[in-house]
Amino acid sequence: MIHESHDQSLKPEARSLRHARGQLSSISRIRKPITTLKILIVVTGLLPAAALVVGVLTDALGANPVEKITHQTGTTGLAFLLITLSITPLRRMTGWHELIRIRRMLGLFAFFYATLHVLTWVVLDQFFDPYAMTKDVIKRPFITAGMTTYLLLVPLALTSSAAMIRRLGGRRWQQLHRLTYLAAIAAVVHFWWLVKADVTEPQRWALALTVLLGFRAWWTLRTRLSSRF
Ligand code: HEM
Repeated sequence: MIHESHDQSLKPEARSLRHARGQLSSISRIRKPITTLKILIVVTGLLPAAALVVGVLTDALGANPVEKITHQTGTTGLAFLLITLSITPLRRMTGWHELIRIRRMLGLFAFFYATLHVLTWVVLDQFFDPYAMTKDVIKRPFITAGMTTYLLLVPLALTSSAAMIRRLGGRRWQQLHRLTYLAAIAAVVHFWWLVKADVTEPQRWALALTVLLGFRAWWTLRTRLSSRF
């Protein structure tokens, strides 16, 4: 009350200055958790790569280091892809819209690990042999699915910046970035097809992806139905 009456006694300029200051401080209060979250993502995102580097340097990757690197980079890439896809459902469910500010970083981590994964195959498995690589892509369906995933991720990474959003226009950018769904489906298919006997692990990824895409399908359907009736 005392505070309010004191506010009334201030000149309009001073009042609006105080109001602006209040707004700034609440914006910085919102930004802080996102900044902390961003730092946390960078640190945890770099950990698997750092562990691999340490493993290589200390010769601790076991009997088959190429296999270990392939598995680690592939799984981390897929995990980041699905975490990226979980941002929109999380925003809608929690109302924490600021989460959008970490989506690009998560997507770029997915691309980073996918690139390391593909490079492992190109350099350490196929020894840069274009003939062997083409044959592998054509002959082994799970490699075809892996290549499809990667080719879908490339345009997404290239257009992820704010400048590209402006250049393409929001609507076209959004349409293009729906390729993320296809990339995630292709990645799960890639995993499923490479497993010979026990499909438990790819099944878990498929279930997680179904839930994430299910949310989107349900919201789209609900919006269409409510606009019709
Ligand atoms: C040119 C593209 C790609 C090639 C040639 C490729 C190749 C491979 C190979 C050779 C394996 C190991 C197969 C085995 O253990 O027998 C593998 C595993 C895997 N890849 Fe890829 N891959 C590609 C793209 C991707 C992408 C883009 C992702 C995901 C973002 C991905 C995710 C995985 C996963 C999750 C595994 C299984 C890891 C595990 O067993 O724990 N791959 N890939």
